[in-house]
Amino acid sequence: MPKLTTPVIATGYLRGMDQPSIRVGTSAILRPWTPDDAPAVMEAFRDPSIQRWHVRRADTIDEARDWLTAWRDGWARESECHWAIAAPETDELLGRIAVKGVNLWDGTAELAYWMTPAARGRGLCTQAVVALSEWAFREAGFHRLELQHSIHNPPSCRVAAKAGFSEEGVRRSSARHADGWHDMHVHARLGSDQPQVTR
Ligand SMILES: CC(C)(COP(=O)(O)OP(=O)(O)OC[C@H]1O[C@@H](n2cnc3c(N)ncnc32)[C@H](O)[C@@H]1OP(=O)(O)O)[C@@H](O)C(=O)NCCC(=O)NCCS
Repeated sequence: MPKLTTPVIATGYLRGMDQPSIRVGTSAILRPWTPDDAPAVMEAFRDPSIQRWHVRRADTIDEARDWLTAWRDGWARESECHWAIAAPETDELLGRIAVKGVNLWDGTAELAYWMTPAARGRGLCTQAVVALSEWAFREAGFHRLELQHSIHNPPSCRVAAKAGFSEEGVRRSSARHADGWHDMHVHARLGSDQPQVTR
């Protein structure tokens, strides 16, 4: 049965280009993951709050390396796109940001992120969300980006608000964490929204 709409992003458009590196002002760069990031990712997942909100841990370097392979493969599948947030001078790992659940036909996806404990509290995650959103809307052609966090995670709510993602409501008991089901607060930004960052 023929569809009555056309794709927002053509199949093959993303995988037809190299995954870009994206500057985050002068303080960070978003770059594709490499297998050499495995020890730093394993270390990041020792952090209790990353374990809590991302609901997994890495027990071995090989497990972390397998994630990195899957994260890199997501670009070729055009299903999810993952970047390391790194320091421009030293390449130290500062965090991770991704667009997941990519729907090319409708041009929609969901943002996810974490920062290493040492990199938090400097506004870096917010800047990374703004930079990646600008790339997603202006270069990749997405229509809508969603962002969800547990109602018990105020820092993530603050990042979403500062990055211009409007509050859209609460999906009740929609995400299972190690301590049970959590209500998830939904934020979203449209490509047509003003790229306004609140402080
Ligand atoms: C959420 C997270 C990515 C934010 O990273 P960050 O680089 O510190 O974020 P920013 O500095 O851009 O902004 C954090 C904001 O949260 C605020 N904040 C921090 N702790 C808070 C708390 N307990 N209650 C309310 N606000 C809080 C900060 O004050 C800051 O807001 P401000 O600029 O108005 O002062 C980071 O805390 C993290 O990795 N947490 C663990 C994993 C996680 O929660 N991932 C997201 C899952 S949805």
